[in-house]
Amino acid sequence: MTVHTVKTSPIDGQKPGTSGLRKKTPVFMGAHYLENFVQAIFDAIGGAAGKSFVVGGDGRYFNDRAAQVILRMAAANGAAKVIVGQGAILSTPAASHLIRLRGTDGGIILSASHNPGGPDEDFGVKFNTPNGGPAPESVTAAIHEATTRITGYRIMDAPDIDLSVLGTVALGDMAVEVVDPVADYADLMETLFDFGAIRALIADGFTMRFDAMCAVTGPYACEILENRLGFPVGTVTHRDPLPDFGGMHPDPNPTWAHELMAEMMGEGAPDLGAASDGDGDRNMIVGRGTYVSPSDSLAVIAANAHLAKGYMGGLSGVARSMPTSAAVDRVAAKLGIDCFETPTGWKFFGNLMDAGRAQLCGEESFGTGSDHVREKDGLWAVLMWLNILAVGGGSVADLLAAHWKEFGRNYYSRHDFEGLETAAAEDMLSALRGRMGDLLGQDVQGMTVIAADDFNYTDPVDGSVSTGQGLRLVFGDGARIVMRLSGTGTSGATLRLYLERYVPGPEGLAEDPQEALAPVIRAAHALAGIAAAVGRETPDVIT
Ligand code: G1P
Ligand code: ZN
Repeated sequence: MTVHTVKTSPIDGQKPGTSGLRKKTPVFMGAHYLENFVQAIFDAIGGAAGKSFVVGGDGRYFNDRAAQVILRMAAANGAAKVIVGQGAILSTPAASHLIRLRGTDGGIILSASHNPGGPDEDFGVKFNTPNGGPAPESVTAAIHEATTRITGYRIMDAPDIDLSVLGTVALGDMAVEVVDPVADYADLMETLFDFGAIRALIADGFTMRFDAMCAVTGPYACEILENRLGFPVGTVTHRDPLPDFGGMHPDPNPTWAHELMAEMMGEGAPDLGAASDGDGDRNMIVGRGTYVSPSDSLAVIAANAHLAKGYMGGLSGVARSMPTSAAVDRVAAKLGIDCFETPTGWKFFGNLMDAGRAQLCGEESFGTGSDHVREKDGLWAVLMWLNILAVGGGSVADLLAAHWKEFGRNYYSRHDFEGLETAAAEDMLSALRGRMGDLLGQDVQGMTVIAADDFNYTDPVDGSVSTGQGLRLVFGDGARIVMRLSGTGTSGATLRLYLERYVPGPEGLAEDPQEALAPVIRAAHALAGIAAAVGRETPDVIT
């Protein structure tokens, strides 16, 4: 087995976004593209010699080929060991757990998360650091920098490793350990949640539907929900992971998980419905006839986490991304614990969790998780809801209504405008940024602007500063508009418009969110001039 150094030159645009490097699959399959990026990862972390890594992905098209390339490159770069999920499969939270459990020097995750997969769809590569979390900006910047000065990459000449067989084999001097992707993760869940109470709930007739969307959580959900907890076989639908996700768009929201939504809103719906995304870190929670917004889910979990055995001592603190609604802030205030507001992207929670300052974190984009790993975790959120319902009693609808009655309701919605011309979208936001100062004190749609800025964040643990993280307009009555461009897309620009309005109750807690938010929506369009700037009035996706 010979090691080659293949001559290469920098490829433009290898800059990790909100969550790793994402491109169209054919781009990743292009000459030297994957190899340059992987070499840049090794170079940016001071080389791979003597180190150990976890490698796995969500099973999308090219996952298997990319894993073989990474193994040969890790061996050529002198790595001591790579732990890889059987079939090169690992959900993102399971990969995070494995990095922590085995104390590796990090991991490489192959996924474009909730983006569709296939020969003409999306692929992605992400580096996670030894704490199990997505690389912070300092590391992703170093990786990008390394891609701009690369001259060669090291790769070993060797046949493919058979990744279907569990056990350890040698690749040159490197050990490749193929592990069951599900077992360690499922064991971790048993330490956090009261499986006995959930089994008793099921015995009482509680029913559920979990839509794995032909993505990576299928095997995890089958093992945990059906084999270990005892839900009937068939509770998990779209359970076999497929390279193109069976043509599904594996993003668990009401638009893309429409089959689940239809079942949950129809006659004879199960008690609980849930879905997860391509790589298993997102979740959507739906009760019978009741959709739970991710921001509300985070707040309900914060208020009830003490019902789960892993969280009985009470939460040390909570954190949410800036665009996420302030529902969880109200719970934190009542519990007397800290609530941090971070930029968009899970990587900003890592330091807070490592320092023990935030134990529960969440984003409006269907991401919830705790410090059991350093990624958001779809099945964890589902099990948390099951545990809360099993111990606390009542239905999802009851729980939500009681929560709003106690804390008031933060009506919330996100409107996405996809496939915009990048320059037009950027110009619109910079024009609005330029007018922020003038907007203060103005009345729009009967609401007064009391704060307007571009969100900057100073990490309270290491003091690092992140600027330009989203425009926010705050109104006197607790309403808020946030606008930013997506950092995970692979073509054009996506404008995310986040809308929020607080109603203290007891009246007006059961409105339709789009109706309750109508004046805020009108204000956003009037202030930013969306239709004039990007030629679009109606969003593509509403969550
Ligand atoms: C989106 C979400 C963000 C999430 C990220 C990765 O990023 O908005 O909350 O962390 O996906 O799942 P965006 O496309 O908005 O940059
Ligand atoms: Zn994901």
